[in-house]
Amino acid sequence: MVFLAWRDVRADLPRAASPTQSSRLCVAIKAPEAFVNEARTSGKGVHCRAGTGAQRGAQRGVLCELHMKKYIVGIGGMTNGGKTTLTNNLLKSLPNCCVIHQDDFFKPQDQIPVGEDGFKQWDVLESLDMEAMLSTVQAWLNNPRKFARAHGVSVPPPNTSDTHILILEGFLLYSYKPIVDLYSRRYFLTVPYEECKRRRSSRSYTVPDPPGLFDGHVWPMYQRYKQKMEADGVEVEYLDGTKPREELLRQVLEDIQNSLLNCS
Ligand SMILES: Nc1ncnc2c1ncn2[C@@H]1O[C@H](COP(=O)(O)OP(=O)(O)O)[C@@H](O)[C@H]1O
Ligand SMILES: [Mg+2]
Repeated sequence: MVFLAWRDVRADLPRAASPTQSSRLCVAIKAPEAFVNEARTSGKGVHCRAGTGAQRGAQRGVLCELHMKKYIVGIGGMTNGGKTTLTNNLLKSLPNCCVIHQDDFFKPQDQIPVGEDGFKQWDVLESLDMEAMLSTVQAWLNNPRKFARAHGVSVPPPNTSDTHILILEGFLLYSYKPIVDLYSRRYFLTVPYEECKRRRSSRSYTVPDPPGLFDGHVWPMYQRYKQKMEADGVEVEYLDGTKPREELLRQVLEDIQNSLLNCS
């Protein structure tokens, strides 16, 4: 309850922000049972949309279990890059699609220490309960159909549509090792520093940013994690967050659809 109450407060706050199996044969990749903890995570940070589109085959980055394809898309990047906007637009356009928002896994405020920079350390990986987020992802992997239904979404009967999509959305999607290899596609939204600062300062937050937070904590942490991601060789597709929303949607939709169609 404490967490949910906190989550409500933080809901409007933007944060700074393989199973790659070549699989004509649709090799089964099952989530380890130990990871599946639906009771713990059910309902947290998840939205879904059902659909009827069917895709055939599988390719690198598409998880298959018999005839079911599971496709995980990351919409990552900096704070105010447009992650949530793009994700919401994708959700309206993609069939059988669920979303997990990383912002919903922030730890309670009293567990966030103040750092040497003098600010509460919200924009670091340790501020997030990534184990809970992983458990939620594993619950979806274990049974996307059941997962969607459990979140109030009616999905088509088996064999009507055998492709299931999960979007992970957040500012530190590619810095947590147990999840980083699960993506079929990793997108990373960026905007220039000035635009990022302008967007952030023009948002009205339930809990306002303290003075100096952007330059003193948010931006340095963003740069640090991005540099680490690049040094670790995590491959992402950069998206220019200053492009019109419709263009970004079209670009990513086309990319996902092409990727799925190439599966056969
Ligand atoms: N493509 C875009 N062009 C211009 N403004 C955008 C675009 N996408 C989002 N925005 C605006 O930028 C702000 C942050 O968007 P949001 O999607 O909440 O970012 P994030 O989830 O990455 O923090 C919002 O005011 C939103 O309306
Ligand atoms: Mg957001």
